Amino acid sequence: MKTIEEVIELEKQAVQDKYRLQYHLMPPVGWLNDPNGSCQFKGTYHFFYQYAPTNPLGATKYWGHYTTKDLVTYTNQPVALLPDSSYDSHGVYSGCTYIENDTMYIFYTGNVKHIGDYDYINNGREHNTMLVTSQDGITFSEKRCLLTNADYPSDLTVHVRDPQVIKKDNIYYMFLGARTKENSGCCLVYTSTNLYDWSYFKRLESKETFGYMWECPSYVEIEGTQILICCPQGVAQDGYHFEALYQNGYFIIKGDFRKEYTLSPFIELDYGFDYYANQVFIDDQKRIIMMGWMGLPDVEYTNPTVHNGWQHALALPRELSIKDKQVYQYPIKETKLLRKDKQTMDLSSNQIFTCAQSACEMHINNLEANFKIYLRQDIILEYKDAVFTFTIGDSGCKRTSKHIAIDMINEITIFSDTSSLEIFINQGQFALTSRVYDEVENTTLQANIPLSITCYTLNGYHIQ
Ligand code: FRU
Repeated sequence: MKTIEEVIELEKQAVQDKYRLQYHLMPPVGWLNDPNGSCQFKGTYHFFYQYAPTNPLGATKYWGHYTTKDLVTYTNQPVALLPDSSYDSHGVYSGCTYIENDTMYIFYTGNVKHIGDYDYINNGREHNTMLVTSQDGITFSEKRCLLTNADYPSDLTVHVRDPQVIKKDNIYYMFLGARTKENSGCCLVYTSTNLYDWSYFKRLESKETFGYMWECPSYVEIEGTQILICCPQGVAQDGYHFEALYQNGYFIIKGDFRKEYTLSPFIELDYGFDYYANQVFIDDQKRIIMMGWMGLPDVEYTNPTVHNGWQHALALPRELSIKDKQVYQYPIKETKLLRKDKQTMDLSSNQIFTCAQSACEMHINNLEANFKIYLRQDIILEYKDAVFTFTIGDSGCKRTSKHIAIDMINEITIFSDTSSLEIFINQGQFALTSRVYDEVENTTLQANIPLSITCYTLNGYHIQ
């Protein structure tokens, strides 16, 4: 455990790191993983996140907290939840907020690890479903334990976590990610009529086992289609699908999850190296906004920011829509408020386009059937034989390439930040997010075909 003085020292180092991002939410110091409890409450957006301030490699999790009214000016709030009870002593794990009657209800998983000779899959661990409430979004009530492992079905391992709560036809539903003793991932559904007393209702599962654990379930209805977003672990690569160690994506629920249903094949949401634990919330404008962690757990990769006392960030908030039975995602419109200078250019093949800074937004149009685009220090975006390949050199820190099978590409939008790229293809039909560690001051782009480019330099977030 580090002393407060040591953490303050680390924080000074972290904020000076050359890889700090301009317009993404990062931990002030230490480690960040999943977004948690994203919501708009009494006019203010709240973005909580899994936070381990004392160690950039991760440690016992707290809930860090940012708030914003306009989605570009943020306030770094005091840590919201600490692992200070016997129900969550080894981590305030992921969860959601549910808002009703001017009250914020936070449901999360209290992680407890027992010391001993345990496998920590079938035993040795507690995953308690917890509740705290808040009237102001800043101060929180006493913690209350709603469910313990004894309340989950007996064929499950001790891995049952990441509650999400919704209301449908006057009943509250809680979705929990779970792993069965047979190593099959599924989503448990509990019901309640008062948000405090919960009973087991059913489970959502695919016909064939799809991974051993489904983390971070997030149920949403988009234009009447029921969708279960989740993060399955243990899925084998299948051609250009499931290249990542752990998946992020969704099942379309055919039928009604409360009655007869089947799950569609799993569809990936972001094909990059760094996207995971995504969850959705609906804001006051009825927008469905997805927040994601720009990172992935358990991968063999050394993030150079660790040397400067911090690691990981949240991806840009993305608005979801549905088109031709596929979920589309695109950064929320407030991202446009960051725009500064605009440059438009028809680029001939091999001509170099230069944007004055690394933080920018590029729209690339007039693409042909095959192309190769060279970006920043050593990135190549290639489209050939209906496969899009993202290749990264040394700036990928040993990560090399990712693929997406795509029938046709008509447009690419790139959000580039000091050390990240979020790439959206065909107005958000496909997405690919990756951290990138070069030291470019300008963003350059060159292609083997002529193309049109519109580029905006972007301001950073203002963080108080
Ligand atoms: C996903 C996850 C969640 C868990 C949290 C702990 O990245 O493993 O399932 O609640 O991280 O930090």
